[in-house]
Amino acid sequence: MIAVFGATGNTGRATVKELQTLGEQPLCIVRNSDKAREVLGEDVRTALADITDRSAMEKALKGVKSVFVVTGHNPDADKQQINIIEAAKAAGANYFVKVSGGKAIVGPNAESVVGRGHYAVEEALKGSGLRWTILRPGLFMQNTFGQAVSIKNDGKMIMPFPGTMPLAFIDVRDTGALGARVLLDPGKHAGKVYEFTGVLTNLEEFAKVFSQVLGKPVTFVAASIEQAEKGMRARNLPDWLVTHLVSVSRAAEQGAFSTEATQPIRDIVGRAPLTTKQFVETYASLFS
Ligand SMILES: NC(=O)c1ccc[n+]([C@@H]2O[C@H](COP(=O)([O-])OP(=O)(O)OC[C@H]3O[C@@H](n4cnc5c(N)ncnc54)[C@H](OP(=O)(O)O)[C@@H]3O)[C@@H](O)[C@H]2O)c1
Repeated sequence: MIAVFGATGNTGRATVKELQTLGEQPLCIVRNSDKAREVLGEDVRTALADITDRSAMEKALKGVKSVFVVTGHNPDADKQQINIIEAAKAAGANYFVKVSGGKAIVGPNAESVVGRGHYAVEEALKGSGLRWTILRPGLFMQNTFGQAVSIKNDGKMIMPFPGTMPLAFIDVRDTGALGARVLLDPGKHAGKVYEFTGVLTNLEEFAKVFSQVLGKPVTFVAASIEQAEKGMRARNLPDWLVTHLVSVSRAAEQGAFSTEATQPIRDIVGRAPLTTKQFVETYASLFS
């Protein structure tokens, strides 16, 4: 049996959907059953456990062999995910697939607690005795959900990234499609780190795609990192998140997200990665 942590989130729900399409009935380990029903449907198998609750997780994981983890980032994400690794091991699971961050973000001395957290979890996983696979998706197309109100009301995408810098985004549905297949074939994928993205584009091009699909002008406005930081502080975003988002913008400026890596999606999923056009077509109602 396969268990999915983070199943109510962006990537987790895509992974569950893909597993279902492939004929599996994964167990979704969630903290809120009402939300799980709303997001995943009435028929989905769920077990309740918070990722801070080791014994509830161990109980929920009885009989599970493979575990998929994509939980939200926060300063305690390392403790939470290491807790999941330990619960999985104690419950008798033998394969663990973790969605991590990009190479430029993850490291023992990363500026952001998110990158340091992912690194600590990866190291714990590698030393756990479990078979593992690590997934490194590119920047999520779904990050533009945060621009929905601005696109809808003002026809503007305002983000602290250069507009013409090549960027390789990924639709989280591709991460789900790849993750599901990796889960189903540990023999082939255990011990691998997959870094993957969609095809290179840039934010001015992405805005043009919004314009074409929504049938109204949408322009990209590059905010400076300083302006963005000021705005985040004015909105009372916590320090760790401001530092994280600023570090992502700085890394982007230095080209950290400008390398295309479409082969894992092509090879493992067997099709081209989803495009920004397909992304906007699917979610058009959120932006108009
Ligand atoms: N954004 C990017 O461009 C990007 C790029 C590469 C990697 N990443 C990585 O991707 C991950 C985020 O993926 P995502 O956006 O798909 O996640 P997400 O939408 O934020 O979903 C997070 C999931 O974790 C669950 N969760 C959080 N705290 C929990 C708790 N205490 N107990 C049980 N469940 C809990 C949430 O449950 P609820 O629904 O109940 O809240 C939700 O299902 C992060 O690790 C991030 O570093 C992001």
